[in-house]
Amino acid sequence: MGKTETAPEQVVKRIQDLREQITYHNYRYYVLDEPVISDAEFDRLMQELISLEEKYPELVTPDSPTQRIGAAPLEKFETVPHRIPMLSLENAFSEGEVREFDERLKRFLRTNEEFDYVVEPKMDGVAVELVYENGRLTVGSTRGDGYRGENVTQNLRTINSIPLQLLTHEEAAPELLEVRGEVYIEIEEFKKLNEERLSRGEPAFANPRNAAAGSLRQLDPRVTASRPLYIYCYGAGEVRGRKFESQWETLQTFKKWGIRVNPLIERHRGIEPAIAYHHRLEHQRHSLPYETDGVVIKVDSLYLQERLGTKTRSPRWALAYKFAATQATTRVRAIVVNVGRTGAVTPMAVMDPVEVGGVTVSRATLHNEDEVARKDVRVGDTVLVQRAGDVIPEVVKVITEKRPPEAKPFVMPTHCPVCGTPLVRPKGEAITRCPNPDCQGALRRSILHFAGKGAMDIDGLGEKIIEQLLEEGLIEKVSDLYRLTEGDLIPLERFAQKSAANLVAAIQASKEVPLARFINALGIRYVGEATAQLLAQHFGSLEELSKAGTEELLRVEGIGPQVARSIREYFQDPKNQELLRELRELGVKPLPPEKPPETPLAGKTFVFTGGLEHFSREEAKALVTARGGRVSSSVSAKTDYVVVGADPGSKFAKAKELGITILDEAEFRKLMQRSA
Ligand code: IVH
Repeated sequence: MGKTETAPEQVVKRIQDLREQITYHNYRYYVLDEPVISDAEFDRLMQELISLEEKYPELVTPDSPTQRIGAAPLEKFETVPHRIPMLSLENAFSEGEVREFDERLKRFLRTNEEFDYVVEPKMDGVAVELVYENGRLTVGSTRGDGYRGENVTQNLRTINSIPLQLLTHEEAAPELLEVRGEVYIEIEEFKKLNEERLSRGEPAFANPRNAAAGSLRQLDPRVTASRPLYIYCYGAGEVRGRKFESQWETLQTFKKWGIRVNPLIERHRGIEPAIAYHHRLEHQRHSLPYETDGVVIKVDSLYLQERLGTKTRSPRWALAYKFAATQATTRVRAIVVNVGRTGAVTPMAVMDPVEVGGVTVSRATLHNEDEVARKDVRVGDTVLVQRAGDVIPEVVKVITEKRPPEAKPFVMPTHCPVCGTPLVRPKGEAITRCPNPDCQGALRRSILHFAGKGAMDIDGLGEKIIEQLLEEGLIEKVSDLYRLTEGDLIPLERFAQKSAANLVAAIQASKEVPLARFINALGIRYVGEATAQLLAQHFGSLEELSKAGTEELLRVEGIGPQVARSIREYFQDPKNQELLRELRELGVKPLPPEKPPETPLAGKTFVFTGGLEHFSREEAKALVTARGGRVSSSVSAKTDYVVVGADPGSKFAKAKELGITILDEAEFRKLMQRSA
């Protein structure tokens, strides 16, 4: 321990003063983009502060600007729950869809008035949440699955455009402020970073977004600090001690606090200027230093946002209006067919690698037999490929002028390329399938789906490993995963003691997944993440779901006949029953969904019939579900309330017959107010 002197009062004051100056100049530089001192002067201030803190280490505080870097590397990231889920956005690709969005909101709120919209560039980076308690940055996390993310506080602290302490010269800091934003890397910096990596023999990042994500997920914050990351913040999560009326006001206040907001954000009345903004930005976007993939259109009023509420995965009040896909031309080397987890056989074009919108692409989906025929894609053809957002690249069209004379039309194989079973294509369907339930191709896909994100999320269980496990005969079905031991894995290529232990641990850890993820993992046809969520909420356990009859399934809001049939078929199949039994015996125990807070309406079922005057049907439903109730489309003995509007249908009669409580619109409204 070095000898430390007790700090004289003027040193304490100078340190304080330097920190304030540095924070302020950071704000001028990053938030306002209007520095008032030179970089050299800034460095001098920083250097003086560093020297003083070295001399008086007892005066170092965690939110000193010198403390951005310096935390010790972590073993792993902890998870942190988001107080308010971080949702995704619904996408639109055309003006028509955007106008339809605006119309839908007007219908939902039963209004003809134009909305104020805030329009923002949609940054293509990594979503994060920053938590400020009494003005001090305490936790920063990634979006994760929307409900919980990884605690990457030490890494976020290294980003200079993230204030460690909010500025309070214009407005006091609130008690709690959750800021959401996008961390990104500029395109030029991304290219530089990749050059450096390649010269060191390290793999290049596929695109700026991956580079930002990879940089943020470093266990050693010094690595993150060496990457030129920035942030733009675009919204608030939970806020205590300050009430915002609008998105616009939120963002303006962010700026006062020193939080960086994209200067291209605008506010307009009505949807047409929002569409015009999209077109303007689409022209401008290639001259921006960062990647954007569209614009986000948000209803400005937070009161209306609240009334509009959210769907399963995205808010009703916002829309991502994407830019047209990026396209490129390349040559088709081969057309192969892939066997999906439901046995669907999909033709894919294997192409000369080409860069499309910053990503190197060498495969594109051709969807199905008819599509290949319609586009007449042949081996040897030069094709136009496109990628829209996260979507799998696809072949748009063939440049027929460049077709080599020997190119022959594609013929769909008659037999499964994996197991050799004759393929079937039911009349009237576009999809060709391998009917063999034991087909290894489908099995491989279904295991991959089972282990994937949004499902059991088993870290390290990717395509290659699954293939290897199947080939070695170590697994035949997903339940076998839970029987694997380190001893099984160590002898295999690709495995050492540590990686074997890690995989076994990851598999074991997946035994306790949220029910919705487990339902999704099963790979029931037509049941994806969103539907799995609905089913988990409605039934609460796998047992209840597996016993549900078609009628009961149809009562779940959002489930139609095709999905209901598919779910029934899945649970009636003896092979699936056996699989579920095995999983249970092996200790796979999905966690029941968190109970919505107990309200008088929790679990109560409502049925609507006839037109309501002051609510759209959608808003009425949303009011019920927000209070923990359920909305069903048919009246049965299990219905608790029937809400009757003008010209009610047969449901009204049935409700009377069954003696169910009947509410008119005014009574419904009162009930909603009482139980809010
Ligand atoms: S608002 C509930 N605004 O897009 C509203 N998101 O697809 C959710 N993103 O995870 C986000 N720029 O990472 C919003 N100006 C912006 C955005 C933006 C980029 C990302 C964000 C989110 C994803 C949603």
